[in-house]
Amino acid sequence: MTGKLIDGKVIGQEIRDEIKERVTALKEHGCQPGLAVVLVGENQASRTYVRNKQKSSSEVGMKSELIELPVTVSEKELLDHVTRLNNDDSIHGILVQLPLPDHIDENLVISAIDPTKDVDGFHPENVGKMIIGQKAFLSCTPYGIIKLLERTDTEISGKHAVIVGRSNIVGKPMGQLLLQRDATVTYCHSKTKDLASFTKQADILIVAIGKTKFITDEHIKEGAVVIDVGMNRDENGKLCGDVDFESAKTKASAITPVPGGVGPMTITMLLKNTLHSAEQASA
Ligand code: GUN
Repeated sequence: MTGKLIDGKVIGQEIRDEIKERVTALKEHGCQPGLAVVLVGENQASRTYVRNKQKSSSEVGMKSELIELPVTVSEKELLDHVTRLNNDDSIHGILVQLPLPDHIDENLVISAIDPTKDVDGFHPENVGKMIIGQKAFLSCTPYGIIKLLERTDTEISGKHAVIVGRSNIVGKPMGQLLLQRDATVTYCHSKTKDLASFTKQADILIVAIGKTKFITDEHIKEGAVVIDVGMNRDENGKLCGDVDFESAKTKASAITPVPGGVGPMTITMLLKNTLHSAEQASA
């Protein structure tokens, strides 16, 4: 079997076009959605992510504010910025780019963000509401993966979804969102013994472990849908995922590439969450 490509660039663009129309309508009612991005330090990967988030937000007509702080910024100063943004009516979404330097308590900072502006969906209130199925901001990468599955008509109900990775940002919320859609969910992680015995049972395999080309055809059941969240560099510096694409596509019925799969969806869902927040604020 040669897997069909799940094209996050095309699907992400379709959704961003829809977002742009709604932003235009909101602006006509006097409200421009505003996204504030807080970047601490010089981490190059974070700088690239933040630049892309800003570019995409202005492309759909949103206001975007970048707060750049030195790596030496104190926790108190950072919290003061968050408080100011919480109280700024022109800002509907606040995102503090992670990771933060070691002297700053990430959980404290995330908890300081107004949950109604927490467009990353990381605040404990949003995480808790998501788990019990209440309306909440959803973490952007798992939310984007759900959209990829929906827009490619991938059936979720009754399917066995296997998630490799248990981060708070991707793995854990991913499993919950699939469970809500009636999948049977298995979590695997770095301490799982005989990983392939689990992944080979997956109808939907989601991989978010940060290990270059770790998952091959030997981990995959014939006909599985494979979603690769990895964002790594190979020995030649080329961007690649956690899945060995060429090997995996011989077994998968559908598969995301890296780049151009999950990545564009993460930014798109950030914009969707920001739009939603602005629509709520202006209702
Ligand atoms: N660092 C890596 N991914 C993310 C993300 O989605 N949001 C934030 N705030 N930081 C990140």
